[in-house]
Amino acid sequence: MSEKQKVADNRSRETTDEFRAFVKTGWSPRGDATPDRMPSAPYAAVRRAALSQQFRGERLVIPAGGLKVRSNDTDYAFRPHTAFAYLTGFGADREPDAVLVLDPTDDGHDAVLFFRPLASRDSDEFFDDARFGEFWVGARPSIADIEAEAGLTGRHIDDFLDAIAKDAGEVVVRIVRDCDPQLTAQVDERRVSEGREKENLEAADDELAHAISLARMVKDEHEIEQLRAAIAATQVGFEAIIAELPRLAETGRGERWVEGIFGLHARHQGNGVGYDSICAAGDHANTLHWVKNTGEIAGDELILVDAGVEVDSLYTADITRTLPVAGTFSDAQAEIYDAVYAAQQAGIAAVKPGNAFSDVHAAAIRVIAEHLHAWGLLPEGIDVEATLDKEHGQYHRRWMVHGTSHHLGLDVHDCALATREEYKDAELRPGMVLTVEPGLYFKADDELAPERFRGFGIRIEDDVLVTNDGSENLSAGMPRDRAAVEAWIAGVQAR
Ligand code: GLY
Ligand code: MN
Ligand code: MN
Repeated sequence: MSEKQKVADNRSRETTDEFRAFVKTGWSPRGDATPDRMPSAPYAAVRRAALSQQFRGERLVIPAGGLKVRSNDTDYAFRPHTAFAYLTGFGADREPDAVLVLDPTDDGHDAVLFFRPLASRDSDEFFDDARFGEFWVGARPSIADIEAEAGLTGRHIDDFLDAIAKDAGEVVVRIVRDCDPQLTAQVDERRVSEGREKENLEAADDELAHAISLARMVKDEHEIEQLRAAIAATQVGFEAIIAELPRLAETGRGERWVEGIFGLHARHQGNGVGYDSICAAGDHANTLHWVKNTGEIAGDELILVDAGVEVDSLYTADITRTLPVAGTFSDAQAEIYDAVYAAQQAGIAAVKPGNAFSDVHAAAIRVIAEHLHAWGLLPEGIDVEATLDKEHGQYHRRWMVHGTSHHLGLDVHDCALATREEYKDAELRPGMVLTVEPGLYFKADDELAPERFRGFGIRIEDDVLVTNDGSENLSAGMPRDRAAVEAWIAGVQAR
């Protein structure tokens, strides 16, 4: 940007001394009531204590991240980094530019939240700062507010860099690097000047990020409650879509209409959607990440809706239902639907402690392969075992290229930094939450697919909790088997 552009004053207003003096006075005193402790706060304290055990004597830095520019001077809605949300309990849009520091003590760590507290009304920021000022974005919390809400020590962000560099060279400092690249660069500058090498720093930092990602794999009681709330809110969104199905042909651009209906309820019920909704009618369902949602919807089509509400605490559901717009499945649609349902049943049955995470996919994909074989779609001479062979088979992947499951939590694809041994090859343990989401996808131009199947893509996705003796389908309130889906549509539309 040129210097001339930087100082463009095409929208500035006159700020006279008279206005400045006037705007700062005449306000009622601020109340001194402090906010309640967040329900998440005691759980966040337990999570910090677990991390503290792993990194004794070291200073741990977990930034919330800053605002991200969408274009020019407009930003995306703020969403804190997942590691920060997990360890502070803050959700929704809290708290841009804040940094959690776990400061080592003799027997653990003190938790300190550096942030930008509410400015006084006699500051220019109060009325003149479009990014942070109270006139523009509302009153921010004070230090006392933050301490009351989160149960940790609050300090001004301006003190942050001095606080982490105060014993440079004596205390190891680790930072979660991808939260806030600008802040990470500032921390790096100070650490490199202490004589530590950048590569070593990065490797040490990655261990911290990995530990936080892995800690999230088994959910605590509060997290499971939040996931239940996210799923209940998602059901509200799906039922609003079902109520609209008869109108979709007439609204035009029906996929966008469906996206909008779900988005309305996601914002109304919670913080928003946990990921971009996939609203895919007809052949679009065969594009796995169809998020353009630009299509028309005809009355005899299926619509695959993969959507999840993220509640204010930022836990998200991830649910797919494939719905017949007309209310009932055609014979060919039913044939595919029942195969996917059988695969999902097999996958869900494999969710139990002691089984490996990968056993869920193995169970589901076997059923998919059996159906493809029975339909005569696998190449000549390839039976179910041959296609399941990991070295020389996998023909079935032409019709279901994706995996069956992933961990779910604050991130839709949760615990992303866990290694293969810790994730795919690991045993399921009570408290884990994973999706089970097989599908079958027959593209309109797939010459190997039977003609009656072409242009149909079907996925069924549920969110399943591993319990002590098996599993609980947390999204069981949303019907799945074919007859129940038809009855659900009729019931919602009769309301
Ligand atoms: N909605 C993304 C997924 O199902 O993984
Ligand atoms: Mn999904
Ligand atoms: Mn999923």
